[in-house]
Amino acid sequence: MKKTGNLVGLVGWRGMVGSVLMDRMQTEGDFDLIDPVFFSTSSVGGKAPAQAKNETTLQDANDICALQKCDIILSAQGGDYTTLIFPQLRSAGWQGHWIDAASTLRMNDDAVIVLDPVNLPVIQKALHSGIRNWIGGNCTVSCMLMGVGALYKAGLVEWMCTQTYQAASGGGAQHMRELLTQFGTLYAEVQPLLDNSHSSILEIDQRVVDKQRNLSDIETAHFGVALGGSLIPWIDKDLGVGRHPDQPGFGVSREEWKGMAETNKILGLGAAFGTPEIPVDGLCVRVGAMRCHSQALTFKLKQNVPTPDLEAMMAADNPWVKVVPNTREASVRDLTPVAVSGTMTIAVGRVRKLAMGPEYVSAFTIGDQLLWGAAEPLRRMLRILLAA
Ligand code: HSE
Repeated sequence: MKKTGNLVGLVGWRGMVGSVLMDRMQTEGDFDLIDPVFFSTSSVGGKAPAQAKNETTLQDANDICALQKCDIILSAQGGDYTTLIFPQLRSAGWQGHWIDAASTLRMNDDAVIVLDPVNLPVIQKALHSGIRNWIGGNCTVSCMLMGVGALYKAGLVEWMCTQTYQAASGGGAQHMRELLTQFGTLYAEVQPLLDNSHSSILEIDQRVVDKQRNLSDIETAHFGVALGGSLIPWIDKDLGVGRHPDQPGFGVSREEWKGMAETNKILGLGAAFGTPEIPVDGLCVRVGAMRCHSQALTFKLKQNVPTPDLEAMMAADNPWVKVVPNTREASVRDLTPVAVSGTMTIAVGRVRKLAMGPEYVSAFTIGDQLLWGAAEPLRRMLRILLAA
C-alpha cells in the first residue's frame, strides 16, 4: 500500500465541531505531522489560521481542483457540503482519503464508521482492501460504544435497549444558545417571586409553565418548543411515516434507527460482514444538557457474568473509560454531564443486575458529544492514515 502523503485539506474548521477538532489537533501535535491547507466556503483568500505552513491563504472549499491536490481531506463542514462536493471529487478521479463528520456517507458500503478504540480491526481491514472514506459515527452511538464496547467485543450481548438523554449540542451551536435563552426567559419571568421567600411555589410553577407554552417564535426557532425545564422525546426525522403501526420501523426516529444500524456497522456485524446483527433499540430523548450525551442501557447478556467482572472488562477496554461505582455518592458526583463535559472521559456507571434475571444488566454512559461524539474519532483516523 502506497504511503499516504501529508497534505491535509481542512474544511469546516471554524464551526462548533471544527473548532473542537482544531483544538484537539493542536493539543495532540497533529499539525506537526501534516501540511495543512485550510479551505473556506465564505472567506476565500483570507488569512489561514496560525497552524498554516506552506499555504497561508484560505482556499476555496468548492474548488474541486484545489481539493484534489490534497492527500487527505478532513471535513466538519456538514452534510450539504459532503453531498455537493464529495461525488464531484471522486468523479474527477480523486484517490485521496476523505474523513468526514457528517452522516451523509456513513452507511455506504465503501465507507467505514471510525471509532478506533472500538473497531480498529475493522478500520485496518478496510484500509488494506482500499477503502478511502472514513466517517465519524453518530455521537450517541460513539459515546455509548466507547463506554460499553467491551461487552460487545467479548460477544456477551444478546440485545441492548437504549434510552438516551441527548444534549442540546447535538442539534448544533444555535440549539445550545436557544436552550440558554429559554432558561433565561423562564428565570426572568419569576425572578421577583423567587426573590421573595414567602411567594407560592405553585404560582412560580404556573408562571413558568405558562411561559414555556408561550415562548416566542424566536425563542423556539431551533427546537420548535420549550426545552428549558422540559424535554423532547423525539430527535431527527420520522422514518416510519406511512407504515402500519404493527410494521417494523413504524414510529421510529432517524436517531433511533441509527442506534442499531451504526452500532452493528462499527462493530463489523450485519449482512455486509456476513454475520447476524445484534438488536439495539430504544427511544432517543433531547434534554436540557449542554454538550454531553447520556444513555440508560439495558442489556440482555448471553450468559450470567458477575457484575464486578463486567465493570472490570469495561474499565480495561480503553484508557478513557471511567467506571463509576454504583453508589449514590459516586453517581451524583461523577456520572453527570456536568462532571464529564469538556473532558475525554467516558463515564460508565449504574451497572447492576435487573429484577428480570441475572442476564439482564443496566448501565448508564456519558460522553462529551463534541469530543468522542464528533471530533476525536476523526483526528485519530487522520493519525492512523498518516502512520499507515
Ligand atoms: N444526531 C445527534 C443529535 C447529533 O441530534 O444529538 C449528531 O450525531
